Amino acid sequence: MPYAKRHILVTSALPYANGSIHIGHLVEYIQTDIWVRFQRLRGHNVTYVCGDDAHGTPVMLRARSLNLAPEAFIEKMNQEHLADFTRFGIAFDQYYSTHSPENARLCRDIYAKLAAGGHVIWREVEQFYDPVEQIFLPDRFIRGLCPNCRAADQYGDSCEVCGKHYSPVDLIEPRSAVSGATPIRKQSRHLFLRLENFRSSLEKLLRGGMVDTSIANKLDEWFGGELKDWDISRDAPFFGFEIPGEIGKYFYNWLDAPIGYIASLAHLLGGVEQAEEFWAQPELEIHHFIGKDIVYFHALFWPAILMGSGHRLATRLSVHGHLTVNGEKMSKSRGTFISAEQYARHLDPQWLRYYFATRLGPSPADLDLNFTDFAARVNSELVGKIANLMSRVAPMLSRLLEGQTGVITQDALGLLDAFRRAQDEMVDAYEGRHFAAVTRTACALADKANKFVEDNAPWALVKRDPEAARGVLTAALECSRILAIYLKPIVPTISAKIETCLRTGELKWSDIESSMAPTRILPFEHLINRLDERNIQVMLEETQAAPSGTDKKPTAEGKHPVVPPAGVAISATGSPPSPTTDVEPLAATCTIDQFAAVDLRVGRIVTAEAVMESDKLMRLELDVGPLGKRSILAGIKKAYTPEQLVGRLVIFCANLAPRKMKFGVSEGMILAAGAGGANVFVLGVDSGAKPGDRVH
Ligand code: MSP
Ligand code: ZN
Repeated sequence: MPYAKRHILVTSALPYANGSIHIGHLVEYIQTDIWVRFQRLRGHNVTYVCGDDAHGTPVMLRARSLNLAPEAFIEKMNQEHLADFTRFGIAFDQYYSTHSPENARLCRDIYAKLAAGGHVIWREVEQFYDPVEQIFLPDRFIRGLCPNCRAADQYGDSCEVCGKHYSPVDLIEPRSAVSGATPIRKQSRHLFLRLENFRSSLEKLLRGGMVDTSIANKLDEWFGGELKDWDISRDAPFFGFEIPGEIGKYFYNWLDAPIGYIASLAHLLGGVEQAEEFWAQPELEIHHFIGKDIVYFHALFWPAILMGSGHRLATRLSVHGHLTVNGEKMSKSRGTFISAEQYARHLDPQWLRYYFATRLGPSPADLDLNFTDFAARVNSELVGKIANLMSRVAPMLSRLLEGQTGVITQDALGLLDAFRRAQDEMVDAYEGRHFAAVTRTACALADKANKFVEDNAPWALVKRDPEAARGVLTAALECSRILAIYLKPIVPTISAKIETCLRTGELKWSDIESSMAPTRILPFEHLINRLDERNIQVMLEETQAAPSGTDKKPTAEGKHPVVPPAGVAISATGSPPSPTTDVEPLAATCTIDQFAAVDLRVGRIVTAEAVMESDKLMRLELDVGPLGKRSILAGIKKAYTPEQLVGRLVIFCANLAPRKMKFGVSEGMILAAGAGGANVFVLGVDSGAKPGDRVH
């Protein structure tokens, strides 16, 4: 390797454990993963760690609304998140959680140093308190009229209508988003980190290349005034780490979250000491990849925590912008709030990796996922240019010349030279996160190689001069091999198939310079499918009908939880899941997404009729308002007579695929609880509800 081997630690922000991973998050994890894969391909020593941000009020409330202990809830979410990331090829060395013994220990140590250094003080604060839930309310859990423009239903910290930032105490007619109660003001003692103590070092740091100038300029605004002390404690009940020596006081989750980077490393390396040692290595580069919304935390608070506890600082913050879909903020009603899992059920993750790469540059500008453009780029560039080269040439060589490569034609040397000369440009583009430039250059090269094949028509040439045709095809395969190296960080599965077919072994960056040894290539495996726009449509229809459970808005949590009263198990009566559908059997675990995808509606029973041939089933006809009529087979024959049922309002699952059963088709399930047999109780709703209403 003609360049020095670097030693790099990379992190992506730790996603909140209270929601599923969505395509907006994926911008960050795909971007980081591409950069990490690139550095590894170059032979550098890279460690990539991440994990869940598991603490805080939203997690606590979300767990509560699902009737789960927070520990059980975050464990499920952790598995779900890691499964999602794996689908998208994100290659962490460690995916951990902030709720870990390593993190608890690190937080304790770091806090003790901050305190000993005189960097924390106690202060009396007044905060909104929910008298019903008996919790202090974070700003986002208070809603009311905007004090500036009087827009209704605004958050406690800022107005989405006029954009004004304010304090929750200024909100007009405030109410708790958790219970709906009017919050009261309550005093409490909190711990604060004295940011002013770090002012000059922080200023120097941010001008010293840790962030791009555009970000540094923005940060300058913060240094204009006094750096406000930062509240690092929260009152019980709270899901987090208790502050040593205090009762009922917890560390604010934004204190323990970045420390979670070191804790994840500690888990990977087998101990906190090892992680401390690793982190301290002077030659180690530390790169944090983050979104622009959390720059403040990583450019002010986190460095202050590190400095105040005697730790070295990160080398660089790589900041990206936010994802919009079809030019607008992701939205549930438009179906563009798409979870990673929903995407992956309909579309190929490699397409998204490629598309995001085409949209990503070094700046923190927002990027748009436009579905028309997405389909066009995937089909014309990734499939039509890049994969096309290999897909034409490899099967042709197998068909016409037993798959045996030969000596590259003289005519192709210029072409290959162009391929190899692009490497410096590619290195600069990858290094600077200018992935759009990488894909642009790759497409231009693929165009050249495709034209070369076209011009030389090896399928005709083979009849006159087989060796010349072999030379042409070999040159084209060599081009494919180099393209596979260039694009390996972006679409690793495509490159892996090229490696296999050409029998190159695992390609490294340095293999750009070398040439393929003569070989007999293996049967070609299809690299990637074309994108059929109908699949996008189907996905959007599904996400619109059943939005994913992820939403930062706290109102979605805890408000009308779909939980049974204590001690009563809710079950859906009706047809058992048939093994041919992909609905999981009830006994299997279900993800929060799947749970939230259940569309519960009100229906009125218009007819009820016992199924003669069955001793369990009753056939119900439901009036479901705007949704029309539904015919449902329910296992409640022993518990009710038809007369008892007709006219009742019930809750039913509206988005269950119709199922063919022995006694007919069932188009949904109604909710009932009980031990079974005669002991089954159909759940009702109050008479104010209308058929077709959603039940939350
Ligand atoms: N838990 C904090 C980070 C703690 S790091 C010590 C957090 N979590 S998050 O789940 O809200 O976001 C995780 C990362 O995903 C952040 O860097 C955030 O900027 C990024 N994104 C979340 N939604 C996004 C988009 N819609 N678009 C692009 N990135 C987005 O913040
Ligand atoms: Zn307003």
